[in-house]
Amino acid sequence: MKLRCNKCGFSSDYQINNPWICKECNQKYSYKFDKILMCDDISTSNTKSWHDNIAKNSNKKSFKSVGYRSSIHQSCMINSFAKAFINVQEGDTLDVGCGNGIFAEKLSSKLNRKLPYYGVDFSIEQLKLVNTDIILPVNSNAENLPFDDNQFDLVYSSEVIQNIEDISKIIPELFRVTKQNGLLAISSLNESSLIRQSIMKLDPNNQSKKYFLRSKNEPDIYLRNPNNIIDKIGKFRFSLEGIYWIYSPLNYSTFEKQPISGVKKRFAQNFLCIIKKK
Ligand SMILES: C[S@@+](CC[C@H](N)C(=O)[O-])C[C@H]1O[C@@H](n2cnc3c(N)ncnc32)[C@H](O)[C@@H]1O
Ligand SMILES: [Zn+2]
Repeated sequence: MKLRCNKCGFSSDYQINNPWICKECNQKYSYKFDKILMCDDISTSNTKSWHDNIAKNSNKKSFKSVGYRSSIHQSCMINSFAKAFINVQEGDTLDVGCGNGIFAEKLSSKLNRKLPYYGVDFSIEQLKLVNTDIILPVNSNAENLPFDDNQFDLVYSSEVIQNIEDISKIIPELFRVTKQNGLLAISSLNESSLIRQSIMKLDPNNQSKKYFLRSKNEPDIYLRNPNNIIDKIGKFRFSLEGIYWIYSPLNYSTFEKQPISGVKKRFAQNFLCIIKKK
């Protein structure tokens, strides 16, 4: 694996469990709390502090402490990713916005294999709850990853981009670290969903509707469709392998080669886009 300094862009080989020092600008990438590779992410945002707080306040690894309202919804997401990856060969894997690590653990056990994982999250409190050797936790902003180009066979991100207002940085960044012929899998909240549309109408990020559907300080949410992701890929060559429409809380998803139009997708709460880097 090659790390890339997220200050100056210099890259060189990296040995797991050893600190890494950028030979160009001397930036140190050391381990903290025994296990977390620190990339000195100094960014601040509501999303980051909210995820820090829910992890700190619960102090326990659970679906709740990573921001899900129900364990059923997290399971639906894990099952859909497992379905999508069933024929994916083993290879270097990156979990973007890995949170407390439950997702990676359950996904690996569903796929019945231990993927060689790196997990990135900008919330240090989430990463402190990771207690599995499946993930090597890396504290970094996903918009500026400390990995060299073309490092991972599989890059995936579950339920992360709905809190990012402008995804024009993160999507090309995830592509950059994906290998040629590697897969990028991104899930988010479906803007066509009737349920999601009604929730937004009832609670359009409006503080005067005192936390009816959102907890205190919960970050803003942006509903999207698969084309919003595809539009941001930028300079990279790719093919769209397909889209899973996820009908949570039912443990059910459908697969389409292209974004669909019509009634069907109005009942899907989430979508999962599978894109191949060419
Ligand atoms: C709702 S949780 C999902 C966690 C996990 N992927 C799952 O599905 O169980 C979103 C996670 O993404 C992280 N996150 C959001 N924006 C991020 C960014 N720009 N860089 C790194 N992590 C981010 C949050 O800290 C949080 O842990
Ligand atoms: Zn450097």
